[in-house]
Amino acid sequence: MSEPRKILVTSALPYANGSIHLGHMLEYIQTDMWVRFQKHRGNQCIYVCADDAHGSAIMLRAEKEGLTPEQLIANVQAEHSADFAEFLVDFDNFHSTHSEENRELSSQIYLKLRDAGHIAQRSITQYFDPEKKMFLADRFIKGTCPKCGTPDQYGDNCEKCGATYAPTDLKDPKSAISGATPVLKDSQHFFFKLPDFQQMLQAWTRSGTLQDAVANKIAEWLDAGLQQWDISRDAPYFGFEIPGEPGKYFYVWLDAPIGYMASFKNLCARRPDLDFDAFWAKDSTAELYHFIGKDIVNFHALFWPAMLEGAGLRKPTGINVHGYLTVNGQKMSKSRGTFVKARTYLDHLSPEYLRYYYAAKLGRGVDDLDLNLEDFVQKVNSDLVGKVVNIASRCAGFIQKGNAGVLVAGNAAPELTDAFLAAAPSICDAYEARDFARAMREIMGLADRANAWIADKAPWSLNKQEGKHDEVQAICALGINLFRQLVIFLKPVLPLLAADAEAFLNVAPLTWNDHTTLLSNHQLNEFKPLMTRIDPVKVQAMTDASKEDLTASATDTGETAPAGNGELAKDPLSPEIEFDAFAAVDLRVALILKAEAVEGADKLLRLTLDIGDEQRNVFSGIKSAYPDPAKLEGRLTMMIANLKPRKMRFGISEGMVMAAGPGGEEIYLLSPDSGAKPGQRIK
Ligand code: 2FM
Ligand code: ZN
Repeated sequence: MSEPRKILVTSALPYANGSIHLGHMLEYIQTDMWVRFQKHRGNQCIYVCADDAHGSAIMLRAEKEGLTPEQLIANVQAEHSADFAEFLVDFDNFHSTHSEENRELSSQIYLKLRDAGHIAQRSITQYFDPEKKMFLADRFIKGTCPKCGTPDQYGDNCEKCGATYAPTDLKDPKSAISGATPVLKDSQHFFFKLPDFQQMLQAWTRSGTLQDAVANKIAEWLDAGLQQWDISRDAPYFGFEIPGEPGKYFYVWLDAPIGYMASFKNLCARRPDLDFDAFWAKDSTAELYHFIGKDIVNFHALFWPAMLEGAGLRKPTGINVHGYLTVNGQKMSKSRGTFVKARTYLDHLSPEYLRYYYAAKLGRGVDDLDLNLEDFVQKVNSDLVGKVVNIASRCAGFIQKGNAGVLVAGNAAPELTDAFLAAAPSICDAYEARDFARAMREIMGLADRANAWIADKAPWSLNKQEGKHDEVQAICALGINLFRQLVIFLKPVLPLLAADAEAFLNVAPLTWNDHTTLLSNHQLNEFKPLMTRIDPVKVQAMTDASKEDLTASATDTGETAPAGNGELAKDPLSPEIEFDAFAAVDLRVALILKAEAVEGADKLLRLTLDIGDEQRNVFSGIKSAYPDPAKLEGRLTMMIANLKPRKMRFGISEGMVMAAGPGGEEIYLLSPDSGAKPGQRIK
């Protein structure tokens, strides 16, 4: 047997100012499955994480909530830890970047970089909020886009026309924090001299540390030439003060990855078997992997290895990058109820359903993963309940009733157990390569074979015949053994199912190598149903509750729901508006696909609209003029597509159709000339 490997694994540190959602969970579940697999194989694998607690966003959010940043991050840490634990994400340590270990390590690393000549200083000019007395990051400045004139755009890019620019290019800039007009001010900043590491990074990023697609992207950046990286921020800032530089703080992204080390250091204090230097010193033979999303590759594959190299520490063995999560083929959307928080999911569904679905779809690439909610129900029910658990439920009863729960010795189908044994190395390789989808396909292929064999032997028919007792017991004993093998293979993905199966099988916690043995002459415990089918009603309840979250948060922030939707707006004397305000309204041609009365609502019709790239559900108070709503189907109208979604008693209204008239029967839905196409914008 080879020596167990020493492996340290991290997932990206979640910001301490927001809830965990199913997009985040993709990464934590992916990492957890890989870590559990390594532990299952007998390797020493340590999984650490922490909340990413610094930065102005957290400082400002705490202020808004009337809390100190320390109180805010403590509350969020409690919430995050509970979410992770219930999703069975088994960190060896979950710490915080706002910790003494991190303060010390960040200072040490910075001083090493400085003493080695990798830190530069120079003055830069930036917008400053004269009321809040703070420098403003780009996202805290809003103004009118210099290209297209859309108001209320952030300091670095326009959401409307996609232009990118410097905050100083914005017209009529305002501080998004106080509303004050910012002034330009100089300040001394500290820079990490990333170009010093160009050659090292060129070699390191091509040495098998990155997936090919990621290495290619990085090569583009390297070819374009690296820039110095601004690692300082001025007070007020929630973070660590830079040693010897009063009033200057480390930028959150400087101490965030050092938070990986700090969390591990904090763990070492409780675990005398772990030696910090054995994992982080330059000559470490331990493996180090960071699991991250594709949006933060530059920090992990350029800045971080350069910082480690410059500070005389080891570099990561690999950066494992995944894509984004989409739900039902689209970006997660609050109005569609597909922006699902971890807690909302857990209120309705078992964590293992999602763990399995993610595993079944996660390859080793950086492609986005789609959580299609119908496919989710179908796949989990068919694979886990219909295939895996089914084997045990088909066989257990005959052993309980026919043989007092004792599984007999023998092997009724050596060709089948040989096939299971032969498949193990390939499943193992797939897990190791993070190709969970392949591992799941191969495991389900084995489950299909086991089910087909049992169906062919039909113990339920034999059991009705005289003299077939031994044959029935032999078939069912093998069935249970094959089930046990499948559980061993699935344990990194489904730890709860595995624990329940271990209780039923009356065995010690299963490890990977147990797949080479069979149970024989073995007393089983009582069989209890191991997993129930997903009821689609619960999935619907989860998405409905996610829409409710949206209303709750709109009310929390004191925002009021827009008028309209339920009733036609009265005809106030309209004040003049600027062209910019008009240009911000997304007016589109919409095709009415469906129009129906809403039960329990006197005035409302529910309209299903095609606006080119998507369908929208809109409630409109026009029923009095259209008593036979089906007549509207197939007709074009105009809608405001970027109106904030509004939760109504009957569902969410995702926009507003345009009509004129005093009300009652006199309501006239607007229509474009013939020839207009759904989705065309009105200019
Ligand atoms: O993008 C994010 O959510 C960051 N909080 C990730 C930090 S990962 C690491 F470097 F600390
Ligand atoms: Zn613009």
